[in-house]
Amino acid sequence: MSKRIKIGIIGCGMISGSHVNGYLAHPQHAEIVAVCDVVEANVKRRHAEVLSGAAARAKSATADAEKAETAEAREQLKADAALWAAYADNGVKIFSDYNEMLKACDLDAVSLATPPFVHEGPAVAAAQAGKHVFCEKPMARTATEAKNMRDACDAAGVKLAYQSGGTCLDPTSYAIRDYVTSGKLGDVYYGRLTSYRVRGRPNVDMFGFGRWFLNSAYSGGGTVYDTGVYDINRSIYLLGSPQPATISGIAYRGMLPEYTGEEINDVEEHVSIFVRFTNGMSFTYEHGWASNMAEQPQGIFIFGSKGSFSGNKLFLEKGKWDTDDQGNRRRYQSDLVETPLALPKSSFPDKFRDFLNACNSDAQPVSNGDVGLKVTEIMSGSLLSAKLGREISVEELYEIEALRTEPTPGWPIP
Ligand SMILES: NC(=O)c1ccc[n+]([C@@H]2O[C@H](COP(=O)([O-])OP(=O)(O)OC[C@H]3O[C@@H](n4cnc5c(N)ncnc54)[C@H](O)[C@@H]3O)[C@@H](O)[C@H]2O)c1
Repeated sequence: MSKRIKIGIIGCGMISGSHVNGYLAHPQHAEIVAVCDVVEANVKRRHAEVLSGAAARAKSATADAEKAETAEAREQLKADAALWAAYADNGVKIFSDYNEMLKACDLDAVSLATPPFVHEGPAVAAAQAGKHVFCEKPMARTATEAKNMRDACDAAGVKLAYQSGGTCLDPTSYAIRDYVTSGKLGDVYYGRLTSYRVRGRPNVDMFGFGRWFLNSAYSGGGTVYDTGVYDINRSIYLLGSPQPATISGIAYRGMLPEYTGEEINDVEEHVSIFVRFTNGMSFTYEHGWASNMAEQPQGIFIFGSKGSFSGNKLFLEKGKWDTDDQGNRRRYQSDLVETPLALPKSSFPDKFRDFLNACNSDAQPVSNGDVGLKVTEIMSGSLLSAKLGREISVEELYEIEALRTEPTPGWPIP
C-alpha cells in the first residue's frame, strides 16, 4: 500500500488552481495539508478552494456510490468520499513563509507554483528538509539554479519533478521515444521543432498574467521560458535524454503593436536555437510568442537514417535497388511509407500522479531534475548565445552564469 503524500503548495496565484485540482483528483495518494503565499488574498482564496473542492467531490462521489454498477466501484467511491470529506475536519493550514511551513508541517512534498525567480530557494529549502519537490515550469531561470535544485534533491534523496511531464505522459510520445531510442529509426541525427503564436504575448496580447512574465530578472526570459520550455522538454524525452554540448541562439523582440505598459519588458518574443548534443545528434528549435507567419508546418520533425517522424506520423524508408539484366545495381528507388505507430496498451498517469508514484517508489518522475537541467541549459544558453552573437558550450554557460550578480540582470536583447 503506497503512502498518502502530504503536500504543501507554495505560491497561490493563477496556476496553483491546477495543483489543487491535480492533487484532489488523487485522494488515495495525496492530501493537501498546507498552502503558502506572501499575498494574503491569494492564499486565502486557494485555501477556500481546497476545502470547497474537496467538499464538492465528497458530495458527488457519495451520490455516485449509490448508482455504482459494481460493489468494487461503490467501495472505491465511498473510500474517496471519506477522504475528501475529512478535509473539513482536518483543515488546511495557511502560511505566508515557506520556511515556516516546512518547519511547522509534517509534509512529504511541496508543490511550487511560484514564479521562476522563486523556484530555486524553496526547492533547495524543501530538499534540505527532506521533502520531495514538484516544480512548475520553467524549472529555473539559469542552468546554475537548476543544477543547485537537482543537486540538493539528489543529495537529500528526494524526488524532483517539474511541470512539463504532461508533454510526455501519453502513448504516442512513449511510442515515438521507443522508436527513436531502440534504433528502429536508424541513426537519429537531426530534428526540428517549430511552434509559434501569431499574437500571444502575456500582458500584451493576452491579459491576466503575473507582472513578472515580461521581466527577465523574474522570468528568466520570454517565449523560450514560457512556451518553448514544453517543446524542448518533450524533445529531450523523445530523443532519449541526450546531453546538450553547444548551443547557438538568436533572439528578437519588436513585434507590433508596441508594448505600452509601465512594467519592465525586456524579454525575447522570438527565439531560434541550434543545439549540438554530445551523442552527435543536433536539433533546431523555433519559438515565438508573436509572429506574422501563416501556413507554415509546426510541430516536431525527427530525422533518422531508416525513417522519420513528421509530427506524430511515422515514415519508414522501404526503397529498393533497380537492377539490370545481370543483377547489377543501377539506382536506388526510395519509397517512404507512412507506417502505423504501435501504441502501448498501458494507461499513463497524469503529471501529478506520476510525481506521487515516484515519491512512493524508486522510479524517477518522467520530467525530473536531470531532464529539467538539460532543458534549462538550452533555454539559458540560447539567450546567452544570442547576446554574445556566437555559439557557446555548456561548460562556458556555467562559467558566465557564475559571473552574474544577483538579482539576475537578465539578457536584454537590443
Ligand atoms: N499562468 C499560466 O498560464 C501558467 C501555465 C503554466 C505554468 N505556469 C507557471 O507557473 C508558475 C506560476 O505562474 P502563475 O501564472 O501562477 O503566476 P502568478 O503570478 O499568478 O502566481 C504566483 C504566486 O506566487 C506567489 N509568490 C511569490 N513569491 C512567493 C514566495 N516567496 N512565497 C510564497 N508565494 C510567493 C505570488 O504572490 C503569487 O500568488 C510560473 O513558473 C509559470 O511559468 C503558469
